[in-house]
Amino acid sequence: MSNFIVKSQKQYQELYKASKENPEKFWEDFAEQEFIWYKKWDKVLDYSLSPNPDELDIRWFEGAQLNITENCIDRHLATKGEQTAIIFEANDPNEKPLHITYNELAKNVNKTANMLKANGAKKGDRICLYMPMTPELAYAVLACARIGSVHSVVFAGFSAKSLSDRIMDAKCNVLITADGGYRGSKITPLKEIADEALMSCDCVDKVIVLNRTNSKIAMEYGRDVWWQDEFAKASDICPAEVMDAEDMLFILYTSGSTGKPKGMVHTCGGYMVYANYSFRNVFQYEDGDIYWCTADIGWITGHSYILYGPLSAGATTVMFEGVPSYPDMGRFWEIVAKHKVNIFYTAPTAIRSLAMCDIDMVIKHDLSSLKTLGTVGEPINLEAWEWYDQHIGKSNCPIVDTWWQTETGGIMISSLAGVTKDIPTYATLPLPGIQPCLMDESSHEITQADAEGRLCIKHPWPSMARTIYGDHQRYADTYFSSFTGMYFTGDGAKRDAKGNYRITGRVDDIVIVSGHNLGTAEIENVINEHPNVAESAVVGYPHAVKGNSIYAFITLRGNSLEESVAREIKELVAKTLGPICKPEKIQITTGLPKTRSGKIMRRILRKVAAGEFENLGDVSTLLNPECVEDVIKGRV
Ligand code: WT7
Repeated sequence: MSNFIVKSQKQYQELYKASKENPEKFWEDFAEQEFIWYKKWDKVLDYSLSPNPDELDIRWFEGAQLNITENCIDRHLATKGEQTAIIFEANDPNEKPLHITYNELAKNVNKTANMLKANGAKKGDRICLYMPMTPELAYAVLACARIGSVHSVVFAGFSAKSLSDRIMDAKCNVLITADGGYRGSKITPLKEIADEALMSCDCVDKVIVLNRTNSKIAMEYGRDVWWQDEFAKASDICPAEVMDAEDMLFILYTSGSTGKPKGMVHTCGGYMVYANYSFRNVFQYEDGDIYWCTADIGWITGHSYILYGPLSAGATTVMFEGVPSYPDMGRFWEIVAKHKVNIFYTAPTAIRSLAMCDIDMVIKHDLSSLKTLGTVGEPINLEAWEWYDQHIGKSNCPIVDTWWQTETGGIMISSLAGVTKDIPTYATLPLPGIQPCLMDESSHEITQADAEGRLCIKHPWPSMARTIYGDHQRYADTYFSSFTGMYFTGDGAKRDAKGNYRITGRVDDIVIVSGHNLGTAEIENVINEHPNVAESAVVGYPHAVKGNSIYAFITLRGNSLEESVAREIKELVAKTLGPICKPEKIQITTGLPKTRSGKIMRRILRKVAAGEFENLGDVSTLLNPECVEDVIKGRV
């Protein structure tokens, strides 16, 4: 048994202390004991967190060589070859689930890897995956890692424009997609969307198309090939490419506060170490447990806690293709009962929407297999936490509220299931090895325990993003320029007298809607493309189910028809960025409150959208104070 997997509160204190006193020794010992390295590192950590991009540099385990798939697959084969690695539950409850063993996973990943090579993928190439949640997506991710190509998974709910932006930013040469993806009673026409995206990309030479839905699609001769044909031809032996610890493993895009999404870069060694460490510590996974994370592999949660974390730990991980509402709102609970899930990890927004349904949807399913519950993606409100605890956990399961980000690669602050105490609405304590702190607006660290401030991390950890792909300057500006010598998360947090953290939400222009991280600037850019729009400001406001929802304030040119404009804008945003970005409320107004330098005062608009008209602050310094009253009167 590993001494790095915390089994008591006392051990937590000891490990935390040790990790703080000597972080390098802490991570070195863990990395040494728990993984297969082809070659050990020359140095555990070399870094500068300088805001100057020429200096900003983070390297873990430099000089070491490994392949993450050796650690996620090959090393388990001797003892766990016949154990299920992945349980695949299809969208259609009548489609037979698949139990894919580690032996089968090995073969399928190798075949996929050879298929990729045969279609031009090489070490270092960026490969875009725009796929439904089928086992082939898992194979494709791992196959990229096996041959040293860099995967860039794009969530299959994104639009053609979002897809083409991401393909071009990373200059991907291969795209893997499917004819269509099942989502509840609908089929997303993935190939059709991909074709539209590729009209504006000149870097993609090959498109590999999985036949999933038997949809009628166009295949471009010379460019498009069928997964099934290519896969059948490929050998099931593919030696793992030798990777340096700091070689890129993947790029994953997340919203930024300017319109352009940020391609966060994660590297092989440190990411592997931390995904494994955090998975085992937070969920306290034990051999034989069935673990289910309901996220999509298109998000970091799916990368770290459906695939890399669980597989590196030799776990059995469930992959669900569908949605919580199909065929009815009891689907999650039906799946828990069907596969006897022991550890269940989902998002507050899913919990809130399921809590609104008839409780019979829950009661009729046997949830007695559950022993641990988890949440991720946004702050969980007390009502949702209590419902989850009582009705799903039967007041008998620890709930881990896991705070982390695409940028952090793994869970940073969370209770450890059944080991450290969970507290409703608190993410609680940092994992050993993680050093959070609170900063005030004048850049001083707040040292008293009981406090509120901006959440930063003082010392590097192995899975932190190394850069933004192609834009190190932006990486430095976004994360290292606000507070000298530390990583700024963009979140605000409170800390209680015992050191427990409670995340209060974003302090920047990012809104978390149903657990999806949306940049308001990106949405504004699209709205502003509408010919009748003069100007817009997008803010988030509290929403009972989604956590937050999007509210757009818009001024129009000339005498446009308000009603049709609002409808057209919703359609435009849904089409350009994807339906999750669609503003729920649109208010056409005569003016937007601005500072004298012309910056829109979102602080005021956020309050108006939330219906908080008191404490708007001093509006007299505005360029146009008179518009505030109009904005309030016109609230929708
Ligand atoms: C932002 C990161 C991490 C995977 C999913 C989201 C918010 C995340 C929590 C939590 C309160 C949370 C933060 C963070 N967030 N988890 N347990 N409690 N807020 O990844 O899309 O990169 O979003 O999600 O605001 O900064 P992401």
